[in-house]
Amino acid sequence: MPDPDFPPGFVSLVSAGPGDPELLTLKAARRLSQAEVVLFDDLASGPVLDHAGPQAELIAVGKRAGRPSARQEAVNALIVSHAQAGRRVVRLKSGDSGIFGRLEEELTALTQAGIPFEIVPGVTSASAAAAAMGIPLTRRLTARRVQFITGADVTGQLPGDINWAALADPSVTTVVFMGQRSFPLLAQGLIAHGLPGDTPAMFAEAVGHPGQRLLRSTVAELARLLHDQGPASQPGLILYGPLAFPPQTA
Ligand SMILES: C[S@@+](CC[C@H](N)C(=O)[O-])C[C@H]1O[C@@H](n2cnc3c(N)ncnc32)[C@H](O)[C@@H]1O
Repeated sequence: MPDPDFPPGFVSLVSAGPGDPELLTLKAARRLSQAEVVLFDDLASGPVLDHAGPQAELIAVGKRAGRPSARQEAVNALIVSHAQAGRRVVRLKSGDSGIFGRLEEELTALTQAGIPFEIVPGVTSASAAAAAMGIPLTRRLTARRVQFITGADVTGQLPGDINWAALADPSVTTVVFMGQRSFPLLAQGLIAHGLPGDTPAMFAEAVGHPGQRLLRSTVAELARLLHDQGPASQPGLILYGPLAFPPQTA
């Protein structure tokens, strides 16, 4: 059945959620089933792609730290050319595409080319990580805000313009994306700016994927652990702040 909301030459920027296909939205699953071309990132692959229909051409345009990846300009050009050829295009990105997802570059390319598009929001890995651990992202009486930060700038290093007062605020839940490598350095700065080293922290690796690993720790201990662990092979998030871990049983 033709869908007037997803006509030929239209691009749907679909958020894939953290990896578990049950965390796709109904709209994301529908767009995947309707698409003629699906351009997907590494982190938006696996079983979520089973929702694509048999007519769909699946094209990997993966971007993963430390691995060769398609350049952003090449990805933009590919999306534009498929849409200009009159195909119904899904651009599939992990988590919620609007969170550290290079969405703006693709929106700009589409706008400049005069291609109609929509954004389908999704479940960010930040909420999926807290849910997998069995805790809320914001603890009612002690967390005054939640902040999502990146642990890597465009060069892969800890950003140089860190707002230490905000990041070392003990009344905030902070979620660090792309921060496994830089967390030891970040933690050092946080502690130097007054955040207690025993502040609760958790590490959530490959949330919603078969290799999911959840670790409950503290800022100081997690920094040591990630330092000793060396380069990461899976995507991971760090959460720290007034996390509502249940009391440890002996
Ligand atoms: C380019 S960002 C994309 C974030 C995505 N838009 C989101 O909302 O989850 C990639 C980073 O997100 C985090 N990430 C994405 N998917 C993840 C998952 N399934 N488990 C743990 N971390 C994940 C990791 O920090 C990874 O390095």
